Amino acid sequence: MKPYVYITRKLPDEVIKPLLQNFNVNMWDHDDVPVPRDILLSEAKKADALLTMLSDTIDEAILTAGKNLKVVANLAVGFDNIDVKAASREGIAVCNTPDVLTDTTADLTFGLLMATARRVVEAAEFVKEDKWKSWSPLLLAGHDIHHKTLGIVGMGKIGETVAKRATGFEMDILYHNRTRKPAAEQQLGAVYMSFEELVEKADYIVCLTPLTPETKNMFTREVFQKMKQSAIFINASRGPVVDEQALYEALVAGEIAGAGLDVFDKEPIDASHPLLKLSNVVALPHIGSASVETRTTMMGLCIDNIAAVLKGTEPKTLVNK
Ligand code: DGY
Repeated sequence: MKPYVYITRKLPDEVIKPLLQNFNVNMWDHDDVPVPRDILLSEAKKADALLTMLSDTIDEAILTAGKNLKVVANLAVGFDNIDVKAASREGIAVCNTPDVLTDTTADLTFGLLMATARRVVEAAEFVKEDKWKSWSPLLLAGHDIHHKTLGIVGMGKIGETVAKRATGFEMDILYHNRTRKPAAEQQLGAVYMSFEELVEKADYIVCLTPLTPETKNMFTREVFQKMKQSAIFINASRGPVVDEQALYEALVAGEIAGAGLDVFDKEPIDASHPLLKLSNVVALPHIGSASVETRTTMMGLCIDNIAAVLKGTEPKTLVNK
């Protein structure tokens, strides 16, 4: 019998074609609704491979539901939704999609920074809502980006690529990371500093750190209070890195000037969430890597990884080496 692959969202038929020759493939039939937990559990019982989304919780119960599971390929660079420790213990390969989404995610992150600084969303709504009655000197005036100081927290590949974008705007670049990045220092002039120093000095604080037990809730009220009152906070990593209540309070108290958020503690965020009521918050539905080209490439990489593991060869992007 052919190995069984279960895909937790509907992907284009074209994309999954390469799997069909050698494997039995089944897919959750919706692209906009996550697979219910009970169905995921019963599929995991039978599956040799799972192609999962960042919105699926792949915990020990899923990983040990059956006896055949050999690989979980996650359609994201982040893999905080997967219990990698349990997977390793069970001998299950976990794969992600690094590199192929770096430029696209950096584009979105820098775009979100620009949109927040220059009030692009607010201004566009202003026109569409027929509120534009006259040109006026300070109408929807935002903050400059060029020649300001960018502070990147989490200087991985996406962080370095955001820094590269910032050089075109002649920004000063500060970064904080677990390890120093000599190439970014030499090529981009990025300056390493402690987290505390960075949040005090930067005009734009961009969070790109992965979610780990160490980074969970690292942006507290005290951290926001250390920032400049003119600072703009951007989060394109994972919501739980930020204490959302603290961010809300800092924005309301005027301790920082604005926030651009692509990720939230609970996704999808409820439209009634207080953060979404603030005009100085730009909120996006976790679209960091969402270009058609990149998402298609990410799907292809997941499929290659699954095929490699099921054929007994090394996958391209294994997380639990
Ligand atoms: C990822 O790949 O982890 C990103 O958050 C997707 O946009």
